[in-house]
Amino acid sequence: MFDTMTLTKIVGGFCGTLLIFLLGNWAAEGLYHVSEDGGHGEEIAQAYVIDTGEEEGAEEVVEVDFAEVMAAADPGAGERVFGKCRACHALDGSDGTGPHLNGVVGREVASVAGFNYSGALSDAADVWTPENLNGFLESPRGYAPGTSMGFAGLPKLEDRANLIAYLASTE
Ligand code: HEC
Repeated sequence: MFDTMTLTKIVGGFCGTLLIFLLGNWAAEGLYHVSEDGGHGEEIAQAYVIDTGEEEGAEEVVEVDFAEVMAAADPGAGERVFGKCRACHALDGSDGTGPHLNGVVGREVASVAGFNYSGALSDAADVWTPENLNGFLESPRGYAPGTSMGFAGLPKLEDRANLIAYLASTE
């Protein structure tokens, strides 16, 4: 049954299919190029606008990073960082050179009764949120110019986050 005619039909059918396929491909490519230059091109450009939208929020990156680091913070490591604060700050409710820091996270700024604050802290923040503490502890004098806290600051974000997590665990 496999005579020349059948073979010719098969080959012819195959070639026809190939031709339609190639034509379709060509047409699709033509459409694609038109859409790049034409109206659809704007839609493509908008897809990029959505991408760069993330870059527009670049100012918030520091905050996002802090929240991420804060979420992974280790209070145990923060307890060791607190060794730098112990000379002036206690965690048992007593005040020394600095006010007691137990329960300081979420506490109103400069609110320990009887402690002689400089007044610089109240100008810088209202409440010691983790974000505000992060800013203050990075550079006390940069954050609250005129503060009487004689401490240079903790340059490492991880140290600050760990320490804040530790302070948050105190009451
Ligand atoms: C040399 C002493 C000293 C050291 C060290 C020190 N502080 Fe202080 N701290 C102070 C003083 C003094 C104040 C009050 C500042 C003011 O009134 O301007 C203060 C204020 C603060 C406050 C504000 C408290 C409130 O009631 O508003 C926080 C928070 C704080 N310190 C955290 C820390 C942490 C955390 C460390 C360690 C990384 C540290 N301090 C190291 C002396 C110190």
